[in-house]
Amino acid sequence: MLHDRISAARGCLQKTGADLLLVTNLSNIRYLTGFTGSEALLVVSPSEAWFLTDSRYTSQAGAEVKGAQVVEFSVRLESLAQVIKDAGAAKAAFEAGHLTVQTYQEIRQKLPGVEFIEADAEMVSLRTVKDAQELEILEKAAVIASESLLEVVAGIKPGMVESEVAWALEKVMRSRGADGKSFDFIIASGERGALPHGKASGKTIQAGELITFDYGIVYQGYCSDETVTVALGEPDGKQREVYETVREAQRLAIEAARPGMAFNELDAIAREYIGSKGYGQYFGHGLGHGVGIDIHEHPTVSPRSTHTIREGMVFTVEPGIYIPGWGGVRIEDTVVMESGGSRRLTKVPKELIVLKP
Ligand code: GLY
Ligand code: MN
Ligand code: MN
Repeated sequence: MLHDRISAARGCLQKTGADLLLVTNLSNIRYLTGFTGSEALLVVSPSEAWFLTDSRYTSQAGAEVKGAQVVEFSVRLESLAQVIKDAGAAKAAFEAGHLTVQTYQEIRQKLPGVEFIEADAEMVSLRTVKDAQELEILEKAAVIASESLLEVVAGIKPGMVESEVAWALEKVMRSRGADGKSFDFIIASGERGALPHGKASGKTIQAGELITFDYGIVYQGYCSDETVTVALGEPDGKQREVYETVREAQRLAIEAARPGMAFNELDAIAREYIGSKGYGQYFGHGLGHGVGIDIHEHPTVSPRSTHTIREGMVFTVEPGIYIPGWGGVRIEDTVVMESGGSRRLTKVPKELIVLKP
């Protein structure tokens, strides 16, 4: 399977007219070779591939890397330049979005005869459609995270501190098999709910508040992403109205998603619904994003998206309403696009959960 992935990456050579591909983004290197360490470069020619790493990772690379010859370097860019020279490349495709200006300039100085061609769009699209093995891991990650959240939420009481709840959630996730967090958890209670990315703080949670939890784990190299907003005590009329507006917007988008539909059209379904209820100005961010090895990856789901939904894509649907001085609601599921419609990988039911204070 990994061998097929390097073959697929060779498609970038044809698309860009390059005779060599330089991969510097570690997530792409992991995807293409199976390497899980933190230092690597990958060079792919039409018939060969070289995986460059330092002595800390030579043994690990020998065990993990498939489809590429492992080269140990002591001076990273010198070794890279030598591999590219030996390959006799005239045009090298590279990921401009993952190389610093400094590194790019250094590489160009070492390889004055080589033309460099940006291949970000081609590289990014390699990972957007997930295979069966990836989907299995993504679903397992989502299940661990959802079950952990339900366990922790059941014990929430007034007086608890957001950051303590975040730590409790992390411990439960770890005990259920998570390798780590996919980002710092967002736990935003009461007025802090108006912060779309309000990281868990020292604020005390109080009865009568809505609490937004946005959380995810890393499991076997893949991320999960889900947001649940709960009420601690019976919600008042406005809390219920805002919640149901977001929920219906999310439901409409999840149900409408079909292969062949434009992502900006999907975004518009949720956005127009929220607008029709008078809350349009309070929903500023895009509807979602791809999820995989990275927590945020191609494609984006927003009014500016230019891509089309395809079967096997995994992306989030996460509308929100954020009202300064009042609070907010976000509801997020990660879904996989199947031929007949989208299927939720994240499992927490999205009817409003009302906790006894
Ligand atoms: N966890 C950030 C997001 O939902 O995109
Ligand atoms: Mn999220
Ligand atoms: Mn998300």
